[in-house]
Amino acid sequence: MDDSALHIYAIIGSPRNEESYTYKGLRILEEQMNEIRATKFEFLFLQQLALPFCDGCLYCVSKGEQHCPDFAKIGPVVSKVEAADGIILAAPVHTFNVAGLMKNFVEYFMYKRNRPSFFGKKAVVFATAAGGGHKVVLDFLEGTAEGWGCDVVSRIGISSSQMGLKRGESAKPQYMDRLNEVAADAAAKFVVAIEDQTLQAADFKQIMNFRAMQNMTRRQKDTVNYNYWKDRDWLNADFYTNAPVSFFAYWMARYIGSRIRKAMKKGNVKPVR
Ligand SMILES: Cc1cc2nc3c(=O)[nH]c(=O)nc-3n(C[C@H](O)[C@H](O)[C@H](O)COP(=O)(O)O)c2cc1C
Repeated sequence: MDDSALHIYAIIGSPRNEESYTYKGLRILEEQMNEIRATKFEFLFLQQLALPFCDGCLYCVSKGEQHCPDFAKIGPVVSKVEAADGIILAAPVHTFNVAGLMKNFVEYFMYKRNRPSFFGKKAVVFATAAGGGHKVVLDFLEGTAEGWGCDVVSRIGISSSQMGLKRGESAKPQYMDRLNEVAADAAAKFVVAIEDQTLQAADFKQIMNFRAMQNMTRRQKDTVNYNYWKDRDWLNADFYTNAPVSFFAYWMARYIGSRIRKAMKKGNVKPVR
């Protein structure tokens, strides 16, 4: 393999592996990236990783990720993400939500939301539906990658019904042209962001998420999370990194964060209806 080629680690949550439109769609993105710069995709098919259901022990959060009963499977995936120039989280829409395979995988990464580390890692999120439901899945995958510390540079949602879903039906040429255009745009953004390596601006949602985690972690003295945050000087910081932040997002998150902290202290958090 060309040593200068970009290495993209693509995590696929379709149980249909290479047969899936998710995989076929990512191959289009790979082609488009290769038009710009030599790029090699490495695919992780979650179905083949064969993770059992996360049993919810939360050892990853409370004791450390090495204590996960399935760390032998998760640990190598974390190393692959760390080593890659960019990552892709890709999943089908199942019952208007993210497919269970991807959801289960993400549960194993719960601790990364408490102790994010993939800062500066560029990511693309990708969703496949026959008809609709892309937004829910793209929002989930974007929030997940951001929660881990990644910069999400592009989102793509594809319609498999336009790509010859039914047996004997061929792909709609007009749709494929549009898909190629979208893939070319995402490919350009992905390559530029990887080469550029500057931190993407953090939006309100990310800052708010940081404040919520900060409030929670401050109350967890002498835990794995607390020590991780303390070592990085995050307990009194405004964000994890020095990524640019808008003035409005900064002050709104600070204000809402302090309201949440007061409510938690008083114990007057209301049940959600
Ligand atoms: C259990 C299940 C639920 C599905 N739910 C939806 C849905 O809510 N919306 C939709 O547009 N398509 C839905 N589909 C269709 C899939 O999104 C479609 O088959 C897609 O191509 C799957 O991606 P894949 O080819 O990468 O596996 C569903 C498929 C399955 C198997």
